[in-house]
Amino acid sequence: MNNLPLTFCGIFFTLAVAWVGIVLTNQIQYGDLEPTTEQLDPKTGGPIEGDPLYPEKPVGLAEQGKKVYMDLGCMYCHTQQVRRKDFGNDYNRSWGKRQSVARDYIYQNRVLLGTMRTGPDLMTVGERLPTSAWHHLHLYNPTITSKESLMPPYSFLYKKRKIKGSETSKYALKLPPDFTVEEGYEVIPGYRANALVAYLLSLKMSYDLPEAQRD
Ligand code: HEC
Repeated sequence: MNNLPLTFCGIFFTLAVAWVGIVLTNQIQYGDLEPTTEQLDPKTGGPIEGDPLYPEKPVGLAEQGKKVYMDLGCMYCHTQQVRRKDFGNDYNRSWGKRQSVARDYIYQNRVLLGTMRTGPDLMTVGERLPTSAWHHLHLYNPTITSKESLMPPYSFLYKKRKIKGSETSKYALKLPPDFTVEEGYEVIPGYRANALVAYLLSLKMSYDLPEAQRD
């Protein structure tokens, strides 16, 4: 092993180049991105004082729902990235009114961009489908809302229970005739279903950024 120092230098050099390429250049390009206002102040070139800052920090139940989303592998079929207007069909499919940019993701320690689009992009699903009742029915059994859906049902996030008293709970799913359960029973979202739906409803890009304006 006369070449040990040379081998060591070779390994070190390869790793160093990879680190510079993958970690350092990204850090230099995106590392200091901060929330900003929809337009910049023409005088200072910075955020306009007093205007709201975007993106907003995600909070509460929606953050827990993100963990459920990761846990259940939703990103194997769904992306969260809208491509620019003349590149692909994202815009024509109403998946977003502008492209998503690096700043949109700064509060996410796990960015769920995804790679496969077996299902629609979900970057703005909270704007497109803003009602929790729709999401619960869809997760319980996707064919209720989307007749020929390929998406697997997540009915294990729901509980079937005996109706207490004479009235169904206000949280019970309003299942259409073909999907109802036995007389006297109702279907209720579990904690994970509620968290997941809160997360889906929080997925929005209803703000402009100086580098990406909505149409
Ligand atoms: C095997 C692939 C697959 C997986 C896994 C999957 N989906 Fe889907 N999803 C689809 C397909 C296909 C559609 C389009 C048909 C439909 O609406 O059901 C869809 C539609 C959707 C929609 C409606 C979007 C729209 O714009 O109409 C939502 C919301 C959604 N999925 C959420 C989820 C969540 C949350 C998970 C994880 C719990 C998940 N999906 C897992 C394939 C998948």
